[in-house]
Amino acid sequence: MKSLENYGLRYMIYTLIAIFHWLILALLHCCINSLSHYHIVALLITFNPETLHTMLHVLQHPLINHKLTQIRRKETGTKDFREALDEIAGLMAYEITRDLPSKQIEIETPIRLCSAEELAKEIVLVPILRAGLGMVDGITDLIPTAKVGHVGMYRDHKTLEPKEYYAKLPPNTPDAVVMVLDPMLATGGSASATITYLKSQGAIQIKLVCIVGAPEGVKRIETEHPDVDIFLAALDEKLNEKGYIVPGLGDAGDRLFGTK
Ligand code: PRP
Ligand code: URA
Repeated sequence: MKSLENYGLRYMIYTLIAIFHWLILALLHCCINSLSHYHIVALLITFNPETLHTMLHVLQHPLINHKLTQIRRKETGTKDFREALDEIAGLMAYEITRDLPSKQIEIETPIRLCSAEELAKEIVLVPILRAGLGMVDGITDLIPTAKVGHVGMYRDHKTLEPKEYYAKLPPNTPDAVVMVLDPMLATGGSASATITYLKSQGAIQIKLVCIVGAPEGVKRIETEHPDVDIFLAALDEKLNEKGYIVPGLGDAGDRLFGTK
């Protein structure tokens, strides 16, 4: 009798576990069916055990998304592209600077002494030439004391390998919070080479700020520079056979400077 009771209890427990598993599977199935390819790629990147330490931040804000739509449209001309790119960089700056260290200081207001906060570290912006230049003003509007270094990098159209052609950094770079700016993170070659160069010059705290990224580029930075935070306004679907981001926005440098 006792063993029959045990058997019944065990049977009930197994049935409950089976129903629970089935419910989880059904839920997963519904979620996956309602997700686009884009969302699945984003989920895989976010929950990939290799990249669980991920430093990827995709900044979602209706204003950023609205302006991003403007620069994605193929009919947007140089003037509007330039303005919107700068504005997106400015909007992203709030989030990128959220964890900047600050220090307590004593100041005197017209009324009395009080303790207050100010930034504890200097900021160095490093736009990757050319297209990164389009993000500088938007950020210096908010951080006017930021110094600006330049790294010239272009992508060989055949091999997609980055070629460095210019570099000039402010002397305080090793002690500063360094923000690398480039609208496009495609294969990640240009950003990775720039970060390697900055590290060779003593930079320690580096943030990579791009507007549109491809999963391939994110993966490369996470692998080659796992200590670097990556900020994007959008994580796109993939690269095409020519190494352009899909859907992307085309060639950022050419659109910014009207060279095509
Ligand atoms: C673009 C872009 C990045 C790079 C991204 O620059 O501004 O720097 O390509 O590609 P990657 O992630 O595969 O390296 P490009 O080489 O076209 O130079 P430009 O800014 O002078 O146009
Ligand atoms: N560089 C660009 O400007 N656009 C891309 O889509 C990829 C690399």
